[in-house]
Amino acid sequence: MCGIVAAVTKRNIINFLLQSIKKLEYRGYDSSGLAVINKNSDIVRIRCVGKVNVLSKKVKKKKLFGNIGFAHTRWATHGKISKENTHPHISSNIVVVHNGIIENSSKLRILLEKKGYTFNSDTDTEVIAHLLHLEQSKKGLSLLKTVQKSILQLNGNYSMVVMDAKNASKLIAVRSGSPLVIGLGIKENFIASDQIALLSSTKRFIYLEEGDIAIVKAKKVNIFNKDGVIIERDEIKSNVKYKSVSKGKYKHYMEKEIYEQPLSIQKTLNNRIKEDKTIHFSELSPKEENLFLKAEHIQIVACGTSYHAALVSKYWFESLADIPCDVEIASEFSSRKLAIRKNSFFITLSQSGETADTLEALRISKKLGYLGNLTICNMKGSSLVKESDCCLSTEAGIEIGVASTKSFTAQLTVLLMLITKIMHLKRKNIMIAKKIVKSLHYLPSKIKKIFKKNTLIEKVANNLYRKKNILFLGRGSQYPIALEGALKVKEISYIHAEAYPSGELKHGPLALIDKNMPVIIIAPNDSLIEKTKKSIQEISAREGKIYVLSDKEVNLENNINFIKIPYIEEIIAPILYIVPLQLFSYYIALKKGKNIDQPRNLAKSVTVE
Ligand code: F6R
Repeated sequence: MCGIVAAVTKRNIINFLLQSIKKLEYRGYDSSGLAVINKNSDIVRIRCVGKVNVLSKKVKKKKLFGNIGFAHTRWATHGKISKENTHPHISSNIVVVHNGIIENSSKLRILLEKKGYTFNSDTDTEVIAHLLHLEQSKKGLSLLKTVQKSILQLNGNYSMVVMDAKNASKLIAVRSGSPLVIGLGIKENFIASDQIALLSSTKRFIYLEEGDIAIVKAKKVNIFNKDGVIIERDEIKSNVKYKSVSKGKYKHYMEKEIYEQPLSIQKTLNNRIKEDKTIHFSELSPKEENLFLKAEHIQIVACGTSYHAALVSKYWFESLADIPCDVEIASEFSSRKLAIRKNSFFITLSQSGETADTLEALRISKKLGYLGNLTICNMKGSSLVKESDCCLSTEAGIEIGVASTKSFTAQLTVLLMLITKIMHLKRKNIMIAKKIVKSLHYLPSKIKKIFKKNTLIEKVANNLYRKKNILFLGRGSQYPIALEGALKVKEISYIHAEAYPSGELKHGPLALIDKNMPVIIIAPNDSLIEKTKKSIQEISAREGKIYVLSDKEVNLENNINFIKIPYIEEIIAPILYIVPLQLFSYYIALKKGKNIDQPRNLAKSVTVE
């Protein structure tokens, strides 16, 4: 979603702004802009539809100078993708960039129009700019007071940065539902939606809390909490390496992140498996662990890829820990009247920890009487982590590719460890628990073996990249893996891909099968293989093009293409089988020449509902 970087310094900030906003491209956007206040106190603004490279070219031609300003990448919500709607937005001396949605902007717009303001865009951001100007001109308020007064009139989840050409020594940053971080430099300070944007300039950060307003000057930062009281927020030293946010030897972040999985799973396991092969989460207190003993039901809520990880864990919770588990897409959970189960425990899953739908579901759950809540999250300082009772971190490291890969396998690893922990707490299936720990230990090396198949997987992708449709089938805990495989293909290749439970084929989708329909079947040689074979035969009889992923060749018909996957215990197999599908989707998009890391219309962190 929208990205913000801002700086107040003594040097010319143009290059800094362009380089830093480029680091936020991964969030997804469709237009970009920049504004600085120059030596004559003029606002200089440049905007364009399209990529930051286009903006850079435009800016460089103008030879701009400014030591206070900001840049923005816009992911359209209010109003079409156009230069007029691109940020920053201006109202006389006031300049604004913002992320999120102002829900009552239409009403405010009418009010402001009546006061004589003319709008040049369809955005809610221009509403903010005019509102700030109106408040400031009414009583000649300071910029801080103007912002404090104006935001009382705004509904919605957002963050914003404001500057004033009449007082170009400070920026005002507001966090109200959408994250902002302040980067502390030497005689210069910065603001961004994400620390990644600032890592080349500083490692020292202050994360704003909900409702905080910060005055950011070159030599000083003052923060006021939601009650307007000046407050100290902790400064953290980031351990994220600037190098870790580069592509290194890989063509794309997605490719790099797929190949990082053995390491990210290892990091997720590290220090959590004790010598006696039991699981220990330092993040959970004994009291929190006991809640899992008390829990008679688990409710998990998530979106997209995280939702698919949750779906896999339903099979695990029920078959291993004997706890009924329901999984729901966050936006659906928040859209209906809920009847909650007795002694139910609430879990959210998220890579970013900022997904608005998941946050909303968590907030709703708190009013419903769950035993407690937990988030499994990849971003430690995120809103979801802050608002949850407790958190288990996935140690996938920063994920830049819009299509989630390594965070998915890390989520599955944490979920399986959590369930194994519960098995130990309940003294249930102890032998199986030991086996799981052993298989988790071997998982990274099994994934590395899949990487050796990349030429074969690329060949399959090259055969299928022109197809208009692809069907994915899986059974049991491999069904969510089929869903995830289809999602990966859809989002980066724009090919229509659908997933079905293998057994459901004969209830409708079989009608789609003919010699042009490729069907990818996840078919490990496990307790379900005989049933899966029936589905393979049904497709084969109708001349569907079959691609089987299995640890054992299925010699049924000769129109079957086989991709051999290393053997792994049935329980843990979903974590392994997604890897060839991630590679497959990557190679299809590569062959099609798509923008793999920034697919059209998508954002990495979906901060609007
Ligand atoms: C798919 C993808 C999205 C996210 C979804 C939830 O590759 O990345 O479907 O999984 O937007 O995001 P998080 O996990 O950050 O809550």
